[in-house]
Amino acid sequence: GGSLTIELTHFEKDFRSKQLIKDAVLDNDFLKNLESTQIREVVECMYEKPVKAGHYIIREGDAGQDLYVAADGEFEVLKDGTTLGKMAAGRVFGELAVLYNCTRTASVRAVTDVRVWVLDRRVFQTIMMKTGLQRQEEN
Ligand code: CMP
Repeated sequence: GGSLTIELTHFEKDFRSKQLIKDAVLDNDFLKNLESTQIREVVECMYEKPVKAGHYIIREGDAGQDLYVAADGEFEVLKDGTTLGKMAAGRVFGELAVLYNCTRTASVRAVTDVRVWVLDRRVFQTIMMKTGLQRQEEN
């Protein structure tokens, strides 16, 4: 710990997966204004994780560690035990706690067996910082 930045590891993925992640980011109000180089890094650094039906991916009130893109299956967003809505593949979620350093505003549950793309907040922050530093070096 204590290090400001971490190594960015790229995870291999097919073209369709890259396109799905990119489209999900561009569809998200909080992320769509990232620079194209930052979006490309986000796409490369996400890794895949399967989650079984019924399992919680995010629990309301927890400290946020990761942000996600729904890759496959059906998801449910809940607040105080009440369903706010359902989500399918191609949606970003868990971005609020990562971007705003707040606790999770809702829970997200896998309705079916699902797959998610995951990005650690430290990786996200490193991507944001790296691009900022590159910009400084150009000046
Ligand atoms: P975060 O607060 O990090 O974790 C829970 C996530 O659920 C949140 O980020 C959003 O991505 C998502 N979320 C919160 N509220 C809603 C809502 N009303 N409808 C759909 N998704 C939501």
